[in-house]
Amino acid sequence: MAVLQLHFWPAEILRVRAEALTPEEFTPELVQTLEDMAETMYVEQGIGLAAPQVGISKRMLVVDVPVGEERVSNLRALINPEIVEKEGSIVWEEGCLSFPSITAEVTRANRIRIKYQNPLGEHCELVAEELEAVCLQHELDHLNGVNFVDYLSPLKRKMLLRELKKHLADEGIEAA
Ligand code: CO
Repeated sequence: MAVLQLHFWPAEILRVRAEALTPEEFTPELVQTLEDMAETMYVEQGIGLAAPQVGISKRMLVVDVPVGEERVSNLRALINPEIVEKEGSIVWEEGCLSFPSITAEVTRANRIRIKYQNPLGEHCELVAEELEAVCLQHELDHLNGVNFVDYLSPLKRKMLLRELKKHLADEGIEAA
């Protein structure tokens, strides 16, 4: 496994719609890339990572929102995901590996049903609630070039992005 290079705001790849994977793209290399994405997510201590964040403009993502008090790992890899049902609402303080050091409250659906393909290309469906639903909606947004700061008021967004810019400069991080 390998840790992949994260792309940070304001990288252009974070603003474009990613491409769907075709049946020919379900290969052992794809499984390897998803494993590398998971490894990168764990190293960076995130609970979700979308392919554009590591420079791959394809519709795939990994999430691991631990379950229960024992915090059992629950790694999932979703390819060509599509939300087919949304219910309720939940406010969560979100962060993003591509926007290090800043967080903000975002309102999302509390329960979602998603259709997707697993790494073998099989068609699957899952229902997620609360934090896992928040995380999946956040990662799925990345596939559409949407970032969590896009939900904020222009003033709040401007303030946070100024803070982020300073953080990235202090850390010597390039957008990539
Ligand atoms: Co993110």
